[in-house]
Amino acid sequence: MSQDIQQSEPFYDVNRTYEDNYEQGPFGAFAEALQRDEEAVSAETPADSFLGVPVNLAFGIPAGPLLNSRFTTAAFRMGFDLATYKTVRSRAWGCNPFPNVLAVHPRSADGSLTPGSPELDEGVLADTNYERPISISNSFGVPSQDPDLWQPDMFRAIAAAGPGQLLVPGFQGSRVEGMTEEEYIADHATTARLVKETGAKVMVMNTSCPNEGHNVLLCHNPLLVGRIAEAVKNEIGDTPLMVKLAYIPDDAALELMVRSTVGRGTVQGFSTINTISARLVDAEGRQALPGKGRDRSGVCGHAIRGAGLDMVSRLAAIREKSGLDFAINGVGGVVTPDDFAAYKRAGADSVMSATGAMWDADLARKIKASL
Ligand SMILES: Cc1cc2nc3c(=O)[nH]c(=O)nc-3n(C[C@H](O)[C@H](O)[C@H](O)COP(=O)(O)O)c2cc1C
Repeated sequence: MSQDIQQSEPFYDVNRTYEDNYEQGPFGAFAEALQRDEEAVSAETPADSFLGVPVNLAFGIPAGPLLNSRFTTAAFRMGFDLATYKTVRSRAWGCNPFPNVLAVHPRSADGSLTPGSPELDEGVLADTNYERPISISNSFGVPSQDPDLWQPDMFRAIAAAGPGQLLVPGFQGSRVEGMTEEEYIADHATTARLVKETGAKVMVMNTSCPNEGHNVLLCHNPLLVGRIAEAVKNEIGDTPLMVKLAYIPDDAALELMVRSTVGRGTVQGFSTINTISARLVDAEGRQALPGKGRDRSGVCGHAIRGAGLDMVSRLAAIREKSGLDFAINGVGGVVTPDDFAAYKRAGADSVMSATGAMWDADLARKIKASL
């Protein structure tokens, strides 16, 4: 592990299991912020907004590394004005086996991974050598606590937001064996209702993880997302709904996604991108993550910055062309203030960083200082 990385202990400890992180985290500067036990105070007048809710700066952490209210509260105290509560489900759901995170090392000189590149199928080197600019792979399987546990905790998380800060709940539907499509749609609506009961002001529905089977993403079926969004909207009424999307290469498919959701008045924004799927190999070319069905895993961090920016600009172009109004939350490879600025230029209304924030607890403060 390089010296540089060792000095900045990630608030989610990749050397511990998900369960240990859930029980004992956050770590590093986030843990210190919690121990200080101070309120998140802000002298700022909210100048920005997220889905119509005023916030100091529409920058924060997307669904994933903030496992519970201790993590989200620490994020608020570290100046991240948007803290997304890791995607919850209608039922308890186990985590993939440890390890869940590895460092990845794309071949290109600038460390980027382009969607469609042969390297994604040939194999990307993955190990425990974390370097800057940071790129990792994460393989969790979207674990969730039972609603009896996450509902009261999400309530606490919402209450801990300081002035000009917003807790953003993430949720998704669960596909279980023998379920009909109608039951699958209904599970999304049920989960959205459970989230709304916690007092959520906004919510993000995840359609970007392989919940449709091995490497099959819900967001690749825009018409089904449209039907699900309608069922969710019937349940949550006026609460603004954002849909989390993976990288969608085809403009026609992306436009169909917008029309079947925003066009029908059910969705107010998109958060994009999630990880880019790659075959991960060790130095000997063998499967890097142990276990069946884990030959491929999602890459995030610096490597996917270009892909995230591309999705955001293409969504912004569709917004312009269609005359439909929706918010764009830019995610993917934001590790410096310059990356934040690039997303804003590409048309993002708000920006979030998962990997970058994990390895740099001061990222929000650095971005604020750069403005
Ligand atoms: C540790 C970790 C866990 C994640 N879990 C989720 C999740 O539960 N739901 C989700 O929609 N995205 C999840 N993501 C994806 C992030 O929200 C984000 O879309 C992706 O990491 C790209 O952003 P980044 O390059 O800033 O990391 C996770 C990411 C990380 C690093």
